[in-house]
Amino acid sequence: MKKTIIALDGHSSCGKSSTAKRVAKKLGYAFIDTGAMYRAVSLYFYDNHVTLTNPHEVEKALSEIRITFHFNENRGASDVFLNGLNVEDEIRKMYISQMVSEVSAITIVRKAMVAQQQKMAKHRGVVMDGRDIGTKVFPDAEIKVFMTADPTIRAERRQRELLEKGEMVDLNVILENIKKRDVIDSTREEGPLTKTKDAVLMDTSFMTLDEQVDFVVQLHDSVLAKR
Ligand code: DC
Repeated sequence: MKKTIIALDGHSSCGKSSTAKRVAKKLGYAFIDTGAMYRAVSLYFYDNHVTLTNPHEVEKALSEIRITFHFNENRGASDVFLNGLNVEDEIRKMYISQMVSEVSAITIVRKAMVAQQQKMAKHRGVVMDGRDIGTKVFPDAEIKVFMTADPTIRAERRQRELLEKGEMVDLNVILENIKKRDVIDSTREEGPLTKTKDAVLMDTSFMTLDEQVDFVVQLHDSVLAKR
């Protein structure tokens, strides 16, 4: 059966990456976490004191950034590398979450990332998660899922994830960050997060990870069966 592209868009911390990773494994597809790319750019900007409001500095920094993915057997997914350095853990920290929406709202940053994402998925079965995959990166994707969940439930999940990695963050700080990111991600000019008519809504507030994975795999199979 010919492979296809699955676009998983939605709000922060509603399980997109966990779902995408498992769906990709079940279907033998590649998984591309586009949020990790914006996080890696944010890390570079942070480390190099790039002024976000200075287009020349941003452009110069972008020309110095090389983002690659390399499969990590232990995680069963790809780690993101920034200029050859594995930054998978660093980019998940709270200080990156606090700046990534502002970085990803910058038009030239988006243009550079979208172009790279389109190249990466051109000839293969791919599950790509992000905010603008079904609208900008692959508007012709056959399968589009728009994921959301109650903000407090998302904050609790995120807090557990951070804790597992040894970072203790107050629930309210996480909740405020999630709400702020929802607003910035949905209202920015370039590639805002929106649900297109052809995207299927999946509210994960009361779903288990297995249920989320089954939902997407079933959707995939039913779409491919109708071809
Ligand atoms: O999925 P995530 O939380 O790791 O994404 C981090 C940020 O990157 C998120 O706040 C918005 C931005 N992002 C984006 O603008 N477009 C994408 N395709 C993916 C992420």
